Amino acid sequence: MSILKNHSKLEKSATLLLITSLAVVTVGGIVEIAPLFYLQNTIEKVEGMRPYTPLELAGRDIYVREGCYACHSQMIRPFRDEVERYGHYSLAAESMYDHSFQWGSKRTGPDLARVGQRYSNEWHVQHLIEPRSVVPESVMPSYAFLKDKPLDVRLASINLTANRRVGVPYTEEMVANAAADMKAQANPDADSKALEARYPKVKVGNYDGNKEALTEMDALVAYLQMLGTLVDFSTYDETAGYR
Ligand code: HEC
Repeated sequence: MSILKNHSKLEKSATLLLITSLAVVTVGGIVEIAPLFYLQNTIEKVEGMRPYTPLELAGRDIYVREGCYACHSQMIRPFRDEVERYGHYSLAAESMYDHSFQWGSKRTGPDLARVGQRYSNEWHVQHLIEPRSVVPESVMPSYAFLKDKPLDVRLASINLTANRRVGVPYTEEMVANAAADMKAQANPDADSKALEARYPKVKVGNYDGNKEALTEMDALVAYLQMLGTLVDFSTYDETAGYR
């Protein structure tokens, strides 16, 4: 009873209530924030994550530029319905090289965090040109113009440098070869050994189906086909993060 009595004193005095509320919020704040000062890293390291290739990075910029995030999320939540539909829930490490991240908050269309390798390149190109030709009830806009827009190769090394400045571990070698790597990934006839050594698991392909030109369509499809494919979940140890 005495607690209730003391509490009624608090409730009747605005000043006392303010001071005690501040004290409670301060303690709560310290408990939440203080550990972050001595934790080296809040992101659990996961095998397989690598910085995006110059072509994927360019595709990612187009994804952001075109506002795909307004209708698509890239974060699978750890709920049964989501995991059954989209695959393993997203790990923090899977967006560690994203500046800015593309988790999103709206799903007019499905989550895209693991869309990579689910469809063929041809399907993606056709779907981006005219979504209703493959999914009749789709409300997604057409992005056909991307196949006619040449990709600016000169931006490749600048883009890598910018990402390096915010902490993505691109090496000097990666920056120096950015333009060449960008072209090599979209050309199955090119020698891609150096590209593969720099970016493990990279997929090379004539993404837009047009051998003559390197287009924004190449970059966007290369990005989509990589999403969610870097971490190998058949070897991922679920419990490692809780040790
Ligand atoms: C106005 C909302 C809207 C925007 C903007 C949008 N989409 Fe979609 N998207 C959808 C809808 C709805 C679907 C489901 C129907 C379909 O497959 O077309 C979809 C489906 C998809 C799929 C197939 C996913 C799957 O698992 O079947 C991909 C890939 C995709 N969108 C990529 C993109 C990209 C890339 C962009 C930006 C260039 C984009 N979308 C912009 C609404 C949108």
